[in-house]
Parts: sequence; structure tokens; C-alpha cells
Amino acid sequence: MSLTCVILAAGIGKRMDSSTPKVLHKICGRPMIQYVLDVTERLRPEKKIMVVGRYSDEIRKAINRPDVSFVLQKEPKGTGNALMKAVEVLGAFKGDILVLNGDMPLITTNTLRRFLGTYRKNRDALSILSFIASEPSSYGRILRDRSERAIGIVEDRDATLKQRAIKEVNSGVYAINHDCAELLTQIRLNKAKGEYYLTDLLDIAIKNGLKAGVYCIGSEEELMGVNTRYELMVAERIMQKRMIRSLIDEGVNFIDATALHIHSGVKIGKETVIYPNVYLEGLTIIGHGCIIYPNVRIVDSTIGNNTVIKDSSVIESSSVSKNAVIGPFAHIRPGSVIGEGCKIGNFVELKKAILKEGVKASHLSYLGDAEIGRNVNIGAGTITCNYDGKEKHKTVIEDDAFIGSDTQLVAPVKIGKGAYVGAGSTITEDVPPMSLALSRAKQRNIKGWALKRFKDGNSELNIKNRKGKR
Ligand code: UD1
Ligand code: CA
Repeated sequence: MSLTCVILAAGIGKRMDSSTPKVLHKICGRPMIQYVLDVTERLRPEKKIMVVGRYSDEIRKAINRPDVSFVLQKEPKGTGNALMKAVEVLGAFKGDILVLNGDMPLITTNTLRRFLGTYRKNRDALSILSFIASEPSSYGRILRDRSERAIGIVEDRDATLKQRAIKEVNSGVYAINHDCAELLTQIRLNKAKGEYYLTDLLDIAIKNGLKAGVYCIGSEEELMGVNTRYELMVAERIMQKRMIRSLIDEGVNFIDATALHIHSGVKIGKETVIYPNVYLEGLTIIGHGCIIYPNVRIVDSTIGNNTVIKDSSVIESSSVSKNAVIGPFAHIRPGSVIGEGCKIGNFVELKKAILKEGVKASHLSYLGDAEIGRNVNIGAGTITCNYDGKEKHKTVIEDDAFIGSDTQLVAPVKIGKGAYVGAGSTITEDVPPMSLALSRAKQRNIKGWALKRFKDGNSELNIKNRKGKR
């Protein structure tokens, strides 16, 4: 039987109280609705429909996929009305419809498969997935008769005190056949809320003689709905734990997996060791055998095999090749490419810097808009002066060059292959290959100057006075 998945995402997310649409709030760096979409995708449905409302444009843009059909629910008239909008575009469809709320990012394909299997085995017209909630107050409660047959769902605000004590709740996942879908028109407006509740379909289906069942499979950890910022944080933690668990199973070592933040989609190679308080974000790929020391943040970057990132370094939109050592306290800004075996030490900042293999910049430097050749040594305190107040200019340093400490390279400028720049130089002109460039003033030593400064000429008194003035 063909399957259509419908994801409801047209609610206004009032409880989140945010200018960002609720389903676009991120969990492990991705909008929560993406997880719901991913999970349904693995069921290989014939059609994927997403019902969107007030935030239609934002959601369409964030999803940006041609295989998802978007259906507009102009007014947020409830989940029942939202599904109606989707069913309307299905026309003479004869298959099964799997409906999911858009705010359940932790749902797994496994549970959905089991649920669909049960629906099909029991030949239900309507199946509903339920779970036991530790704190059921934000969910619709499942009402069962004496013989444990599910007979209805009551929302918290409409429930009696006795019904509120029920812990079995509606997850917001439904499997519906075409006969039952036709009954959506029978849902009456809930006057108190001004909404058409999809949950009323259970009672309506039974009254129309259709076979319906509610199945308590799956846990709160995966079926929770995210309505508030607090629930968003809880879901984030659960997702983090899951991802770290699977990375561990793939061979990654974590010193303390509680103090970390890793985005979904981050890849880490085997035998890599991750210390606490590390943030790996966006499309980051870490090779195997690496060590990432504490307080490091890596965003949208690639780190080669056996590279070490020492404490408190930040790497953004850059790539670091294998066997390199970065940090501590290095700042690798976007557009940098660091070659094999490079060494970038403390308080070194790179921006759009392309470093070939074996470059060493061990201390206190700024290298921006620079191209640096093989085995170049950058002395402490070297600065590429890349900005003239209007435009950025490039510095090129060819292979094997040696830049002495405290050098300013005023771009655009080129240091030829194998050339040397003496410490303390300000380089404003290109340096030919294999030459030495020196631009500092020649040193003068004035003998006895310090003694002459004091009239009495008593050197001991002189030194004493100086000490006193400190
Ligand atoms: C809903 C269920 C509740 C269930 C809970 C599970 C109803 C009436 N209640 O409650 O029984 O326990 O989910 O988490 O269905 N939406 C629309 N259009 C609307 C309203 C909502 O598309 O007019 C979408 C939302 O974007 C959301 C989903 O439907 O993704 C659920 O809506 P929400 O307001 O979160 O429902 P709950 O109150 O959580
Ligand atoms: Ca919800």
C-alpha cells in the first residue's frame, strides 16, 4: 500500500514565545523539523507533505527541498484542520497517511516502522501512537474503556481532574487510511480553543464503525513534543547524548561526554580523543587519531588525521591538514588552509591565509590574506599589514623564507623563495629570492650616557636613585 507522510508545522508556537518559528528552533544545530523529515524519509513514502502557516516562507526556505510539497493552512485552526488541508491536495489517493507533528524531533524510524507494522497487521482505519509521560500535562490523554479499548483523546484543558491523572498520552503520530481520512470533515470546532482537534478523529472513527487502535510503543525520550524553551533544552540534551553514543560506538574517545556540544552532521574519525568543553559545529569533519584539547570551538572546518588542536583555540570555515599542531590560543578565521605538519602556536591569528606544508608560526602573529610557501618560518610578532583603511591586500611569502621576529609586512608585498627578513623590519617592498631584507635603523651605543645624566657622576648613587624611582 502506498504511503504519504504529512508533517504538521502550521502552528504558531505560542508557548515558545519567539520570533523564530517553533519548528525552526535548532537542536544540535539543525531545525527540529529536519529531524522529523529525515525520519519519515527513511520509510520511503511516495509523497511528503508539510502543512505550513504563518511562517510558510521561512520554513520553505529552511527546508529547501523539491521533493516536499508544502500546503498552506492560512489560519491556525487546529491540527484537524491542518490535516484536512493536506488531504484536500491528495485528491483520490487510496493509500495510507502517516501524520506527524512537526515538533517531535526525537522520534526514530524504528518506532515508526513498528507503529506502521502494527497499524497494517491490525488492519486499522486509524492507529495512534501513545506513550507514558512522566509529566503528562502538555499532552492529550488517552481514554480507555473497562476492557482497555481506546475510545477517545481528551486535551489537558478540556480534561476532568480524573482524566488529568492519566499518564498515557497521545504522541501526535497517526496512521490513517483513506476511509478514515474522509471523516475529517466531521470534526467539530472546539469552541473553547477555536480549533479543530485532530484527536477527535478517534471517537469519530469508532462511531462510524471503523477499526481504530491506540498503541503504547516508544518512550517519552523519543516522543516528547517540544513546545517551550525548556523542552527545547531537554530535547537538545537527549539528542546530544544519542549522537555522542553513536560516535563512541564508531571509535571516538571522549574524556567526559557530559561537557560537550556537537552538532548533528559532525564526523569524527576513529581513535580521536575529545577533551571536555569542546564545541564542534556545522559541517565539521575531524580525521582519525586527532586530539582536541579543552575549550576548543571548531565551526564548518575540516581537520586532517593525527592533528592536535591545543586548548582554547577557535577554528572557523577553514581546513587543517594532517599532522599539524594548532594552539593553544590560536584563532583560525574563515578561509584559511593549513598544510600538512604546520605548527600554529599561541596567540596566532590567521585569516584567509593559505599555508603550504611545514610552515611554522609559533607565537604572537597576525597572518591575513596571505599565501605562505613550504617550510616558511614566521618569527614571533610578525604581522601582515593587509588593510590600508580602504582595501585588503595580499602578502606572498615563497617557500623556505625566514621572517624574523617583530616584522611588519606591508601588503601588497612578496618575499621571494629562501629570502630572509631581519627581525624588527618593516617591509614595504618585494624581497628578491635568497636575499636578506633589513629595514630597521642601525643601532647606536652611547658609552657612559647613563652616568652623564646625573651631575655628580656617582655611579652607585645613580643606580640607587633609579631604583627609588621605580
Ligand atoms: C498535540 C495534540 C495532543 C498531543 C500532542 C503531542 C491536538 C489537538 N493535540 O497537542 O493530543 O498529545 O500534540 O505532542 O492535536 N499545527 C498545525 N496547525 C494548527 C495547529 C498546530 O499545523 O492549526 C501543528 C503544529 O505546528 C505542531 C503540531 O501541529 O507541529 C502540533 O500542534 P501543537 O500546538 O504543538 O499541539 P499540542 O498542543 O502539543
Ligand atoms: Ca506540541
